[in-house]
Amino acid sequence: MTIRLGDVVPDFTAETTEGPIRFHEWLGDSWGVLFSHPKNFTPVCTTELGQVARLKPEFDRRHVKVIGLSVDPLDAHAKWAEDIAETQGYAPNFPLIADPDRTVSGLYDMIHPNASDTMTVRSVFVVGPDKKLKLSLTYPASAGRNFDEILRVIDSLQLTAQHAVATPANWKDGEDVIIVPSVSDEAAKEKFPGGWKTLKPYLRMVPQPGK
Ligand code: BEZ
Repeated sequence: MTIRLGDVVPDFTAETTEGPIRFHEWLGDSWGVLFSHPKNFTPVCTTELGQVARLKPEFDRRHVKVIGLSVDPLDAHAKWAEDIAETQGYAPNFPLIADPDRTVSGLYDMIHPNASDTMTVRSVFVVGPDKKLKLSLTYPASAGRNFDEILRVIDSLQLTAQHAVATPANWKDGEDVIIVPSVSDEAAKEKFPGGWKTLKPYLRMVPQPGK
């Protein structure tokens, strides 16, 4: 099933390393990141899960719940966690879904048969408090993801959910942002009383609201 930006993401029940969950209920009012990794006891995945565990306080600070998934069974997740702690210095501190019957992988189109019939690709789904898809990413098994980038884009998604702005290329939290073209100069005077810089009529830079 293809899930597009703005769609309500599929709900499901699943076994996880922190007990059974119903996904939408588990998300509650939080933002969420659901990410798949291809296979337990593989090198790139081991580094990725260590990185997510290291960055967990950063996800918490943004009110984002993180949950991983692979098609491996629950007992394999528990055993692998020991290796992640030993080699990466961080044990998984977030739930991992066991999806051996591929129910969730199928719902979220995480198996791409021309890449692999048996393993998921590296999918990322960022879900808003309204349960709608805000961003998705797909990486191949050979390329570990940059979870700092996922935090960076969550900063953008959370900012632009609150204010009539967009974020430029390579933007980081605290840097100037763009007034969206649908806001007229008249309306911008009310929204951004501190003023802005017009580089082109369609490119108006303003200090990040709330900073
Ligand atoms: C890895 O995590 O290193 C990996 C997983 C599946 C296929 C290839 C590499």
